[in-house]
Amino acid sequence: MTTPVDRAVADQIRRRGPLPFDEVVERALYDPVDGFFGGGSGAGRRADFLTSPEVGPLFSAVIARALDGWWTELGRPDPFTVVEVAAGTGALAQGVLAAAPDCLGALTYVLVERSEALRDRQRERLPIGDAALAYPPSAAEDVDSPSAEGGLGPRVVSLGEMPTLPVTGVVLANELLDNLVFRVLERAEQGWSEVRVGLTGDELPLVELLVPADDADARLADRLAPDAVVGARVPLQRAAADWLGRALALIERGRVVVLDYGATTADLAHRPPEEWIRTYRAHGRGGSPLEDLGRQDITCEVALDQLALVRPPAAHRSQAEFLAAHGIDELVAEGRRTWAERAHLGDLAAIRARSRIGEAEALTDPTGLGAFHVLEWPVP
Ligand SMILES: C[S@@+](CC[C@H](N)C(=O)[O-])C[C@H]1O[C@@H](n2cnc3c(N)ncnc32)[C@H](O)[C@@H]1O
Repeated sequence: MTTPVDRAVADQIRRRGPLPFDEVVERALYDPVDGFFGGGSGAGRRADFLTSPEVGPLFSAVIARALDGWWTELGRPDPFTVVEVAAGTGALAQGVLAAAPDCLGALTYVLVERSEALRDRQRERLPIGDAALAYPPSAAEDVDSPSAEGGLGPRVVSLGEMPTLPVTGVVLANELLDNLVFRVLERAEQGWSEVRVGLTGDELPLVELLVPADDADARLADRLAPDAVVGARVPLQRAAADWLGRALALIERGRVVVLDYGATTADLAHRPPEEWIRTYRAHGRGGSPLEDLGRQDITCEVALDQLALVRPPAAHRSQAEFLAAHGIDELVAEGRRTWAERAHLGDLAAIRARSRIGEAEALTDPTGLGAFHVLEWPVP
């Protein structure tokens, strides 16, 4: 069965010829009505795939501890602004606020989510205030404002795009970059071809077509994967690099933190593209990325070296290492103690405490979420 996005893409191809991959992914994921995220699908136990914040509250509790550490390093500024990009339905934000970090009184939490349908869902779980709250006066300027510990936070704001006025704090993005649009290049006998999307004759189904890559794309691919053999493919992720540039420009003092799955472009060139361009729906793998546009997630492993071209990260470790550094083991030990004390009651506190053990296993699993990459760019 064809989807509205299949038909819209087919229409565009009839008018303009074969489309670049990024244009097709843009419509499939972000068409405001019929796109996968635009229509409100995404992460969640009852949705299409499970991300770290959706595993349970433990991930957010560790992030809350990390935020406290970074806030302290910055000299406990008020306001301390956390800009969470790709906030989805607000699970991470809700968990961070529930964990009540020390920085709460100084905290301005800005959820940035492109999908209006998902932003609407955030309002069901979070006390979202007026967007103007994203820029409160600083405690130093506002003589009536109490100290950070007893400050006026948390202020919670939700936006459709990243703000542009510089802030002191953290830009955080969990599984954003793998969902930003990308082009695909294929190594040819002479130079590189670009993989475009065309029609079969003048009709659906969509098919891949190779055209000569433009000079800028070919030069970039040569630089990133000089040893690629004929037939090897690579993603070019300019949208991810642009996003990182904007995130770095947003932070006056603080850091940008990205959590995602990824590899280098040269590694991806050695692997079949079906492995690194994946589709998901209803907690399973979907079909070809050119099928059922808008009804399945399309994701691409993040080419980490392409981010490093913008600025090399100061820290790069696995999610398991990052969570350990920010105290996941202490939180699990605390959970075990509470469980031992309250198991006989079987109340919510006991059950939550016990679930931390299973959550920690999932979040640090070296064959799953634990192997995700965590990249950090401190500013300045
Ligand atoms: C894989 S989901 C991750 C959601 C959430 N971070 C989590 O871990 O559960 C990716 C999300 O990024 C959002 N997104 C994509 N591009 C965006 C952008 N430029 N700004 C804000 N959100 C964006 C999508 O709409 C989608 O909700």
